[in-house]
Amino acid sequence: MNNIARNFLLVGIVSLLVGMAWGIQMSASGDHGLSAAHAHLNLIGFVVMSIAAIYYRLTPAATGTMATVHFVTAVLGVVTIVPGIVMAVSGSGETLAKIGSVLTILSVVMFASIVWKHGFGSN
Ligand code: HEM
Repeated sequence: MNNIARNFLLVGIVSLLVGMAWGIQMSASGDHGLSAAHAHLNLIGFVVMSIAAIYYRLTPAATGTMATVHFVTAVLGVVTIVPGIVMAVSGSGETLAKIGSVLTILSVVMFASIVWKHGFGSN
């Protein structure tokens, strides 16, 4: 497996493990107040990263510098948007959530341009 695909998958699996542990903690405590942050960690961290991993595994031609920028932007996005949502939901300000939102959408814009340039698959 190429490095960028493996790295996306590893970030996805770590996000899933943390997200599931967080879900179990919410269930056990009965406090679902941070469910929006839990959901975003699982969906942006696990689902979106895993889709990117599969894309780069199937499209080796796309694994260049732009893919590295995509990876770094996506990781920075998830590690800022999740605590940002926690802060926003807790009434501690929305700045971090806004920064995370911009980084996350930028990573998807980057992904879109990579798919546009390289297509999908090795043909
Ligand atoms: C061990 C695994 C998991 C546990 C124990 C768990 C637990 C929970 C709990 C307790 C809630 C709050 C429900 C409520 O207040 O109505 C929740 C919400 C949610 N979870 Fe999970 N979860 C798990 C895994 C996942 C995964 C893998 C995903 C997505 C890939 C996910 C996505 C969501 C979504 C979208 C919500 C709704 C958030 C909202 O309405 O604000 N969860 N989960």
